[in-house]
Amino acid sequence: MSTVEPFDAVDLIRAKRDSRELETPEIDWLVDAYTRGYVADEQMSAMTMAIFLNGMTRREIRDLTMAMIASGERMDFSGLGKPTSDKHSTGGVGDKITLPLMPLVATFGVAVPQLSGRGLGHTGGTLDKLESIPGWRADLTNDEMFAQLRDVGGVICAAGAGLAPADKKLYALRDITGTVEAIPLIASSIMSKKIAEGTGALVLDVKFGSGAFLTDIERSRELARTMVELGEDAGVATSALITNMNVPLGLTIGNANEVRESVEVLAGGGPSDVRALTVALAREMLALAGQPDADVEGALDDGRAMDTWRRAIRAQGGDPDAALPVAREQHVVTAERDGVLVEQQALPFGIAAWRLGAGRARKQDPVQHAAGIELHAKPGDTVRAGEPLFTLHADEPARFSRALEAVEGAWRIGDAGDPINDGGPLIADRIGR
Ligand code: URA
Repeated sequence: MSTVEPFDAVDLIRAKRDSRELETPEIDWLVDAYTRGYVADEQMSAMTMAIFLNGMTRREIRDLTMAMIASGERMDFSGLGKPTSDKHSTGGVGDKITLPLMPLVATFGVAVPQLSGRGLGHTGGTLDKLESIPGWRADLTNDEMFAQLRDVGGVICAAGAGLAPADKKLYALRDITGTVEAIPLIASSIMSKKIAEGTGALVLDVKFGSGAFLTDIERSRELARTMVELGEDAGVATSALITNMNVPLGLTIGNANEVRESVEVLAGGGPSDVRALTVALAREMLALAGQPDADVEGALDDGRAMDTWRRAIRAQGGDPDAALPVAREQHVVTAERDGVLVEQQALPFGIAAWRLGAGRARKQDPVQHAAGIELHAKPGDTVRAGEPLFTLHADEPARFSRALEAVEGAWRIGDAGDPINDGGPLIADRIGR
């Protein structure tokens, strides 16, 4: 039996090309017809470029998001009997915040269903980091995820293939057609997955700066506003922090190294920026879930968050006491003179860690869990000639030279009193109710 399609892809492409607003049934059809293969990749490429160039209204973005949600399953945690709150970061160098954040928030009886991904390019993936813990398993069934949320209170696991399949197809197409950086497309892509995941509250960590996906703070603010509106329109309590990614976050980049640093934060220590951002995001997540006065810092300092972490790691087959992998080779870079470190650019350090083996160039590549970079100084720190500035870790020494090329000119030692080129405060703005 042949079915008659209600619209024609070429008409809709022409409409968006000429800056006409697409109607709800047109967007619903377009997403559905693309997901089932009726609308061809080349047609959708033209459409995403038209959207990139001419934008979309708030109503169109909402329709696009809802159509992508409708392309797959929608999870439901209402049976848990407790509020749910989640966080999404647009990604950055050394961004390991999900690791201490999930157990910290779960400690207060708010369930955290954190569906995460693997890394591609210079930003690391949360699952890659956790997989450096011996035995830890990322793939859970929906029933296992539900049971862990009920028993432990929080879970970090791989998003199943059933969630917003339209986005998977569209994202892969955008990646090869130069249309990733369109705010309507980024916002609908991220929010379709988060709304389909079924969380009741959501905090967005939208980064700006050299190591972020959008470098300009105004574009990050616009993306944050668009996503907060989408969340609120879908009944998810949503807020966003606009955070600085000009400098790597914390003192470690690379999978096992970042797990070690996260455990330090859970033990009440760790670098001040990692702790500060973890605490700020936890406060946001808990406030949206009805606990604005939770003693977040207390739960890091007295070991409660660490207890939840250990239970969550064990629940997924991991051994929280096992030694983490250590790289076979190290290369130390020292300060060439006395002074103050005035610059440390996130992007080159992220690329260097990736070249050392911490990230992957193709989806199917494995990562080397012990590879990465340990920073011994941060912008503003006083350094002395000959003292270590950072250490490269790799399993194969042949990787050092390309990593060193990536960081050439990426840090600078100045004199006391020179301006620090770090892009300003860690948390630049907050958007939301
Ligand atoms: N992350 C997503 O999930 N989608 C985008 O479009 C960009 C970043």
